[in-house]
Amino acid sequence: MILLLAAEGEEAAALLRRLEKKSAVPGPFPVHRGRFAGKEAAVVETQVGKAAAAAATAWALTAFRARAAFFAGVAGGLSPELGQGDLLVARDAVQWDVDLTPFGRAPGELATGERFIPADPALVRALVEATGAKTGRVASGDRFVADPALARWIRETFAADAVEMEGAAALWTARRLGVPMALLRVVSDQATAGSDVDFALFLAEGSERMAVALEATVTRLK
Ligand code: ADE
Repeated sequence: MILLLAAEGEEAAALLRRLEKKSAVPGPFPVHRGRFAGKEAAVVETQVGKAAAAAATAWALTAFRARAAFFAGVAGGLSPELGQGDLLVARDAVQWDVDLTPFGRAPGELATGERFIPADPALVRALVEATGAKTGRVASGDRFVADPALARWIRETFAADAVEMEGAAALWTARRLGVPMALLRVVSDQATAGSDVDFALFLAEGSERMAVALEATVTRLK
């Protein structure tokens, strides 16, 4: 069983279009199971934000015996090397809005001491080999970034390449539950003024690109 998670309805819809023999599964989130790229799979629409992503990931990993999980969707690009439509595979991810600095922690550092949560290296490799995507760092927070000063701060503080609203929380949850997970993002905007418009205009195309990339990756999984 391969688990495919995406936050937005449009992102999940692009995955569902490629899910064959699908049936809805009752649950606290929109979930379907079927066959994706020839393999048994489930698609979960987690809904937006870190709490929703962590809850949906925990629920899905408890409901299904997944051997691999992918969280995928669009993201705001922070790296000058990433333009609209480019793919990014996360080597690791950080919650940029976690702040325990009054207690001497680094920005984004959890009370457990975890900060940069690594993705599963074998799944990262599978994504890169199948898609030719760049690898980098994803920063996740419960805020849509449409502000150049904030984008610059996130890039400088965390050396992050892209910003989104779920990945680090999903990755953290999957690690706790012992299931390999990787993150794939397609750049929809530059996390600056007007990003809300770019995001809305590119969401359908970016979702399609993401789903094609995941299909290529899952096809090649052993
Ligand atoms: N997802 C896509 N673009 C984003 C942005 N600019 N901020 C947060 N999440 C995003």
